[in-house]
Amino acid sequence: MLNKIKETADFIRSKVSQLPEVAVILGSGLGNLADNMDVKAEIDYHDIPNFPVSTVAGHAGKLIFGFLGGKYIMAMKGRFHYYEGYDMKQVTFPVRVMKDLGVKTLFVSNAAGGMNKEFRVGDVMVITDHINLFPENPLRGKNYEELGTRFPAMTEAYKKYLINYADEIADAEGLRLMHGVYVGTPGPTFETPAEYEYFRIIGGDAVGMSTVPEVIVANHAGMDVFGLSVITDLGGKDIDYVPTHEEVQQAAEKASPVMVKLITSLLSRLN
Ligand code: HPA
Repeated sequence: MLNKIKETADFIRSKVSQLPEVAVILGSGLGNLADNMDVKAEIDYHDIPNFPVSTVAGHAGKLIFGFLGGKYIMAMKGRFHYYEGYDMKQVTFPVRVMKDLGVKTLFVSNAAGGMNKEFRVGDVMVITDHINLFPENPLRGKNYEELGTRFPAMTEAYKKYLINYADEIADAEGLRLMHGVYVGTPGPTFETPAEYEYFRIIGGDAVGMSTVPEVIVANHAGMDVFGLSVITDLGGKDIDYVPTHEEVQQAAEKASPVMVKLITSLLSRLN
């Protein structure tokens, strides 16, 4: 694994003239963040050694390097989902590569179903914490001390100072910004009404099929993480409506301006 990380990072280093300290994983709602970037370089996943290739409709696969909010960043357009059949090491491999490239701060975004009764479709939620319900932890197996400690703490998996910045930006801009706990499930099924209810009872505010693996590895690697969910549908015991993948994407598109504004302003606040 260590050799693969190095090989991939070396390849990327040979393709870009500047290396980023911030990376953004573009989930639903942030897919067009790149349109706002001053792009300097793009690399197709197909061309990157050891990189898995994304298969889901609406998730293009490339790394984009350039400026946003005055910061030079690396954006991952298209992520790898566990439900596609990748194992947890494949899903999180790009985060290992980011770390090798010198990334210190990771922004993640996703689409999620809301269980919190205050939430509305199209809301944006700052992830304050998560509950990992994936059947496997990406850190299972041999631990490489070079990459991180055997038993990493997860007490501040999403950094409070970044959450505070986001709240200040939302206040200043008059944006409706919710807070909540993200429940990460393997998917690909959406939840039954009873499952949404169960996730609410155990402390979840939103549920989705991504993010948790990458955030675990980013924390293992000592990165500061900030996450946003766009609430694309609502679930609970009185709600029997099941969204289609297209509806989830449409709801995510609607929230896109708020997400882009938050991420751009956050970037300009980073040191
Ligand atoms: N459940 C799981 N994943 C999701 C949902 C949901 O309701 N909405 C968008 N992604």
